[in-house]
Amino acid sequence: MELFRPINSYYDFENIKMVPEGDLITRNLSDMDWMYQDQEAVQELLKEDPQIYRYYNVDIPEEEGHLQHCISIINPGKVGNEYNMTKGHFHEIKGTAEIYYTIQGEGMLFMQSVTDGEPEFEALEMKKGTLSYVPPYWAHRTINTGEEPLAFIGIYPGEAGHVYGEIEAKGFMKLLIEKDGEPTIIDNPNY
Ligand code: F6R
Ligand code: ZN
Repeated sequence: MELFRPINSYYDFENIKMVPEGDLITRNLSDMDWMYQDQEAVQELLKEDPQIYRYYNVDIPEEEGHLQHCISIINPGKVGNEYNMTKGHFHEIKGTAEIYYTIQGEGMLFMQSVTDGEPEFEALEMKKGTLSYVPPYWAHRTINTGEEPLAFIGIYPGEAGHVYGEIEAKGFMKLLIEKDGEPTIIDNPNY
């Protein structure tokens, strides 16, 4: 058996990145433009195509027994009145959970159940120091409601895998918009 060696990663608070970078994945608006409601705002912003978020995956085997971990950073900003957010996904092995630990900024964690029954919805606040548990069978998306980057560590079973297609097509049942200066959860009219 080949032994995997212990490793450290660091969060560089000043430069807002993980060191070493590992596998860095960036998502610009053009990677998810159809996921926002206000398509006029999307077209305007696409001229610059801002980065919405990025995540640094530590290079760990995607195997049972290992713990995948990564640091995600969502830039502050909105598309129309909808806050910057991740695409969102559920795990290919739906019965695998995840821990998020917020290290910087503030936002919300949207979750939607993916059992055979009617989907249920939950939202949790995220701020520096929040330890959030995403139990098995919950799709998850994170949203930056603050003025600085929202950064959090995610830890999940090596074998979990990711499914994006269904959420890419339908979104979550709720949206998070700014209304009267406050983050407000509303029904997604297109769900
Ligand atoms: C991994 C996980 C996070 C996200 C990351 C980007 O299971 O939940 O590390 O992968 O925050 O979000 P998505 O994957 O939805 O683009
Ligand atoms: Zn996940």
